[in-house]
Amino acid sequence: MKTYVNEILAKVGQEVELKGWVHVRRDMGKIAFIDLRDSTGIVQVVLVPAELGQTAELMKELRPEYVVAVRGLVQERQEKNVNKDLATGKLEVLAKSLNIINRAETPPFEIANEDRQANEELRLQYRYLDLRHERLAKNMKTRSAVIRYVIDYLVDRGFTYLQTPMLSKSTPEGARDYLVPSRVHQGKFFALPQSPQQYKQLLMVAGFEKYFQIAPCFRDEDARADRSPGEFYQIDMETSFFTQNDILELTEGMFTTMVKKLFPEKHFTFSPWPRLKHDDVKKEYGTDKPDLRQDKNDPHELAFAWVIDFPLFTAQSQEDFFHGSGSAKWAPSHHMFTAPKEEDVALLDTDPGRAHSYQHDLVLNGLEVGGGSIRIHDPLVQQKIWDLIGFSAEQKEQFKHLIEAFKYGVPPHGGIAPGLDRLISILCNEQNIREVIAFPLTGDVRDPLMGAPSEVSAEQLDELGLAITKKK
Ligand code: AMO
Repeated sequence: MKTYVNEILAKVGQEVELKGWVHVRRDMGKIAFIDLRDSTGIVQVVLVPAELGQTAELMKELRPEYVVAVRGLVQERQEKNVNKDLATGKLEVLAKSLNIINRAETPPFEIANEDRQANEELRLQYRYLDLRHERLAKNMKTRSAVIRYVIDYLVDRGFTYLQTPMLSKSTPEGARDYLVPSRVHQGKFFALPQSPQQYKQLLMVAGFEKYFQIAPCFRDEDARADRSPGEFYQIDMETSFFTQNDILELTEGMFTTMVKKLFPEKHFTFSPWPRLKHDDVKKEYGTDKPDLRQDKNDPHELAFAWVIDFPLFTAQSQEDFFHGSGSAKWAPSHHMFTAPKEEDVALLDTDPGRAHSYQHDLVLNGLEVGGGSIRIHDPLVQQKIWDLIGFSAEQKEQFKHLIEAFKYGVPPHGGIAPGLDRLISILCNEQNIREVIAFPLTGDVRDPLMGAPSEVSAEQLDELGLAITKKK
């Protein structure tokens, strides 16, 4: 059984077997040092021919990224040789035998000294090597810890983790859909979910009351530093009988305690987080995602704030909202399931532009890291909203299952979906969301590693009843 590098701190004076990669090799005349890397850290290994017996010859062959096994004695370094930058810096392992498990070619970029300017295309093409960089590996572990925290927090509070389908029908969140052709039903398409919005509302009708999911979402939209062009993850939550205040408090409690536990070096600009009215924020900052940090150069400052009381609608053509549906005066400011404030329901008939809603956005350091709302659970109000956004009978037909479900005892419900990738990128002080995603797509929506998207064979197209008629 291998000993992991982070276990040797407790093994001074003992013999261990380490397995991992040669990170760096340093020659000092007859003896050599290697930094041996595994998934838990780096430790210095001392290679002395006299100690290595029959395996001494292999020493000369070692090069960076070779996979090796080293049996050796964990010992304390002399005071002057302690390396304060390494968690294991007080120790080293005196090798007694060496085994080369696999050799490695020279990587296309350095692993031990990360060049942060390295060409992204190359980094993504060799992402499995890029992920060997300490910074990226740390980001991935942070991501794992955040996900674990969220799952524990919500499960402890009675939430049920449920998975909703990937092959489904369009749920409009304002972007284009990714479509998947059906072979069995030729000419028909599944849509990958832009979010589990409709399913989570149906789960409330089903009576789960508290649902969540680390949900993959697919949106065909242009990439930005804070936006994935293909897929991303949400901490998707929905609750029944919760007020908007309950949802905000739950979310705030979860992230506040998470930051304290996992990111103790961070501090909050505000505690509790301010709840700002949309119209005031727009007036004061000219944006609904204000960066409220006191010191924008402080990498550890977190200025969380809620933005509430959004207008229910924004005045715009629908082109951007629901592709191909012509132009209507109003588009939902969040999505079409968001409830108007009770006192504003009457405005739907008289002055819809003045109606405000139960939408809530979570803003962090100038980015929107979450959005949600209390939902409409009155079919008549839903119909009104659809009329105002200019839905045709055909479009309404697409959502008839929701209206149907609402006939069977729908509880008042609402939720939120923090964007996992965006949140983690801020917590990891990364400028680009791709740095916290294991295998991200490029800005122009490709995966240079797998070569996706790719053409498919004529047989596959034929089976699906599809033909490529023209390429733009
Ligand atoms: P919304 O569309 O506001 O709401 O999305 C919620 C959060 O998801 C994140 N996000 C993204 N992150 C990375 N790349 C993207 N392309 C991307 N798009 C969105 C953002 C955003 O705040 N169903 C509703 C939620 C609800 O009403 O409960 C929804 O999807 O951080």
